[in-house]
Amino acid sequence: MAPTPPDRHRIERLIAALESEFPGEPESAQVEIVRAPGRVNLIGDHTDYNEGFVLPVAIELDTWIAFRRRQDGHVRVASRQSREAGSFWIDQLAPIQARGSSGGRGGGSAGGPRWTDYVAGTAWSLREAALPIRGFDGVADSSLPLGVGLSSSSALELASALALLGGGHALATPALAALAQRAERDYVGVNCGIMDQFTSAAGREGRALLLDCRFLETRHVALPWGLRVVVCDTGSPRQSSGSVHRDRRAECGRVVALLSEKMPGLCSLRDLDMPSLRRHRAMLPEAAARRAEHVVTENGRVLATVEALEAGDLDQLCRLFAESHASLRDLYEVSSPALDTMVEVAGAVPGVVASRMTGAGLGGCTVNLVLADAVPTLQAAVSREYDRRTGLRGRVYPVAIVEGAGPVPTA
Ligand code: GLA
Repeated sequence: MAPTPPDRHRIERLIAALESEFPGEPESAQVEIVRAPGRVNLIGDHTDYNEGFVLPVAIELDTWIAFRRRQDGHVRVASRQSREAGSFWIDQLAPIQARGSSGGRGGGSAGGPRWTDYVAGTAWSLREAALPIRGFDGVADSSLPLGVGLSSSSALELASALALLGGGHALATPALAALAQRAERDYVGVNCGIMDQFTSAAGREGRALLLDCRFLETRHVALPWGLRVVVCDTGSPRQSSGSVHRDRRAECGRVVALLSEKMPGLCSLRDLDMPSLRRHRAMLPEAAARRAEHVVTENGRVLATVEALEAGDLDQLCRLFAESHASLRDLYEVSSPALDTMVEVAGAVPGVVASRMTGAGLGGCTVNLVLADAVPTLQAAVSREYDRRTGLRGRVYPVAIVEGAGPVPTA
């Protein structure tokens, strides 16, 4: 398919940036471009690393890399958004935890990982899996805001993997997603689940992705006609998602360890149901029991949301998103005053069907299902009400749902 005019513009800008950063010799390999989208999760937060269910969508905000493959194992990358460029030899890479990272993500915050670490981490992960990869000279270009929870890091990992592997690789989506997740977990040091990388790899245009994180089985789910996905950024950056994941994962693991004495065969919170949790609740530390209750009920809400989307039941979507937000706020304790206010402001706008915090939490974004006509009213309400009530600057992104990562046709 020929590029659309806006894509054509972006392709030309990116190729020009590549030529100026790494001028090609006459015998250089041809320029290729790959893209990988960010994601927003409709429902199912903090369930992925408990082997549960999630329902994300891949979004039009994305990361592209224009590159020329090299014959050796050297990678040189620059970015149109960051002044910081990087280079490394694939065979000399080792995980960065030793550098004393704070476990932050995506933005290159002080002491946290640099954006180039996600490229290097991906090369390291693919190399560890003994895949045939080669170096490249490349320039990255991202329309994803950093550090707000839309998975700029996963998009960069997926785009890097495609550039390193080259066209025609035979890796299946689950394997590709798992290798990108490994880059983040074992190289960068953020103990995330599989949702973000899987969505960036496997998203389908116009569809939500029901992912069973235990078996990595998927189903694509259509949204009711006329419903838009709108992301509202609170303008309060997430706290390090590394520490959220470290602490909450440990609590979930503790519940499984304690309950498995009474429930042989319990391998993760995926295997728990509410009657069993009620029966054994007294064995658990209070906070850990609340984390488990969130995960058990959130898994149920994901499956109920799929049914509500398929039935076009907007009232039920409203209820399920509200329950999910309350559960993440009160039981999992990863919401924030800014997220709560954003949900309240959106909820008061006629035509906003459903609203909740999304992603790791403690700052970042909400996700909203909105009747198409109501999007401008939501935008106005956020800049008037939300900004006044919080003193922050909220941003509203109506997002199209797009295909997962792949090559960008340049002609
Ligand atoms: C982050 C992680 C995901 C997931 C969400 C919470 O986005 O990267 O794996 O755990 O938080 O649902």
